[in-house]
Amino acid sequence: MKIEELEEIIKGRRSVRRWKNQEVSEDVLVRAVEMATWAPNGGNFQGWRFRVVANRELILRMADAVQSVADKIASWPEASRWKEDVERYRKNTSYFRHAPACIAVFVRRYESVADKILAVREPSDPEAKQIRGFRRFAPTGIQSAAAAITTLLLVFHAMGLGAVWLAAPLIAKKEIEELLSVPEGTGLVSVVAVGYPDESPQKDRKPVSEVVEFIR
Ligand SMILES: Cc1cc2nc3c(=O)[nH]c(=O)nc-3n(C[C@H](O)[C@H](O)[C@H](O)COP(=O)(O)O)c2cc1C
Repeated sequence: MKIEELEEIIKGRRSVRRWKNQEVSEDVLVRAVEMATWAPNGGNFQGWRFRVVANRELILRMADAVQSVADKIASWPEASRWKEDVERYRKNTSYFRHAPACIAVFVRRYESVADKILAVREPSDPEAKQIRGFRRFAPTGIQSAAAAITTLLLVFHAMGLGAVWLAAPLIAKKEIEELLSVPEGTGLVSVVAVGYPDESPQKDRKPVSEVVEFIR
């Protein structure tokens, strides 16, 4: 593959939030997830688990659970400070109910040998406690899940599908984990909603000079 082709896939992918009323076959979904499992991940531990949901009723129940928590958050008196934002938030949290399929991504906590040492030493050594804090700031398991989800989105795009990465459903983590019977020892990280796209959204990026600093 030429770099230009890869560039086109990377830059041509956009988050898609409207889908055609058309099923995505199980083969296609599983093939995409299989490719996503080739993403880099901490210690090649592969602590990720994927629940592919193509059952309409289950997707609706997940979306209802998310909407119900969003409505509750919006009803709290503290929300009145951000009225317009809150209304937009309420309206935009559960649109994934219209997606033909959703992939719930779960992850197991990853513990390197350094993490094991730090956990034992932390109570007696402030430096160990601080270093453990650095590790907790960006957990390896979550970084690994992010690598898999990114890969999944690119694969979907290359397949002609449209997907969106959703962190919003985390507000109903408990309910979704119950609905999908959470894989043993893991926790929900995100949901990816996917289908055949019914929109072609455009988005820009900041110029690279704004986000990169070269150190020689
Ligand atoms: C960690 C993460 C969480 C996201 N959560 C949501 C979400 O809850 N709802 C949503 O509509 N989009 C969500 N997105 C999609 C972003 O809004 C989107 O990637 C961003 O606006 C850039 O647009 P693009 O993906 O089309 O380039 C999320 C993206 C990431 C990486």
